[in-house]
Amino acid sequence: MAEQNSNPARHKAGQRQAKQDEKNATGVYYIPTTQRVSGAEGGREKAASTEERSSRSKVPALLALALILVLGGVAWHLWSNRKVPVTINGSSYQVKIDSTLKDAARDLSLKVRRGNLVSVKGDVLKRGGGYAFTATVNGKSLPGRQGERYRVSQGDTIVLAKGKNIMEPHTTSTTSVAPKLVMKGGFGPVAYVRNYGKAGSAKVLKGKRSKQTAEVVTKKATDAEIYLRTPVPEGGKQLVALTFDDGPSDKYTQQYLDILNKYHAKATFFCLGKNVQQYPELAKAIVKQGSQIANHTQDHKQLTTLDAAEVQSELSSGFKAISSATGVETTVFRPPYGDFRETTWVKSAGIASASITWTQDSKDWKLPGVDQIVSNALLNVKSGDIILMHDGGGNRDQDVQALPKIIEALQKNGYTLVTIDELMASDSTIPSSIQSGNAKMPEGTVWPTELGDA
Ligand code: NI
Repeated sequence: MAEQNSNPARHKAGQRQAKQDEKNATGVYYIPTTQRVSGAEGGREKAASTEERSSRSKVPALLALALILVLGGVAWHLWSNRKVPVTINGSSYQVKIDSTLKDAARDLSLKVRRGNLVSVKGDVLKRGGGYAFTATVNGKSLPGRQGERYRVSQGDTIVLAKGKNIMEPHTTSTTSVAPKLVMKGGFGPVAYVRNYGKAGSAKVLKGKRSKQTAEVVTKKATDAEIYLRTPVPEGGKQLVALTFDDGPSDKYTQQYLDILNKYHAKATFFCLGKNVQQYPELAKAIVKQGSQIANHTQDHKQLTTLDAAEVQSELSSGFKAISSATGVETTVFRPPYGDFRETTWVKSAGIASASITWTQDSKDWKLPGVDQIVSNALLNVKSGDIILMHDGGGNRDQDVQALPKIIEALQKNGYTLVTIDELMASDSTIPSSIQSGNAKMPEGTVWPTELGDA
């Protein structure tokens, strides 16, 4: 403090002297006389005079050197900032060499739409917050920042398009994608699993800014496919399948088997699990006769009214009753009331491989008379047809009389009476695993829990 203000006058004088020096300095070649006479060489006038001449002779050389430096600098500046011709989006431009494409686009005021900053779901978070442009240089695409950072060379052919969006910062994890169930083929009495589903995988992106979650499928799931088909026996074969529901019945099943034996015919018995458990010997007799035993559920509930666990229980209990009684491992079934839909397939957990309904309804349950049952069963019959009759669940006396007439009429017209598995095997569009009647979900497959878009 004291030092700063101790001698303001001297301080001012110092300032004046500095200003004077500054003035002198602006006259670049002014040499102060006091300097010439003071110091150790003050008295040597002659020597000083020589030195003065020598100093004066250096002036033009310094001038020239400075000029060369300045000109060199200017030349260097012009060279390194020279403009080179390039083509951008089909037009010719002069662009400062070595400038980045981003700077060049700005200097030329090129109008290219910037991309946006978007959320993991694609919502715009900041308009113009994406890449400045998408660049293709001499036919090579330069993604992301590469394009912006590219340094322009003479003769480049550049295409600038709208900048890509930039996704917000996010975390990434992986998850599996469940297959869906689709139904195809229109309609038909045979609905079979043409494809078992396989899981895919996806990335789960969680946006740090938007807090959104988005899934990006990296491997598509294979949908499970149920295919509806009216079997078409190949090679000119004339085949019809007789089917009997709701048994086995202690009163009728054996009578049916005797009639079938008499005509060397086979049929398919869609049995209830509870009846198989009650009459295991009849279930065995069906198999022994050469006919097919298949599932009609455990307890004849309308499956479309049940939840998934009940559907699965009705199906698996019926199959288990059959395998316990006969050793037959079938996965073929007929839904009670013929009622089985996409949603029921979804609930079925892949337990069944084929759901079989019918094309010919004898309407025997109405007890319409023997002749009516016969004519209902044979109405417009053709190869590949499936006839519905019953051996269990009521009075089947009319069926017992109708059955020989139906078989005789069919055989007279050249039809062979076959099982459902044989009928499926006559149509090569149905996979052999399904034709076997005991297809199960292959290893590594996943049953869908949702319907897909057919
Ligand atoms: Ni039934």
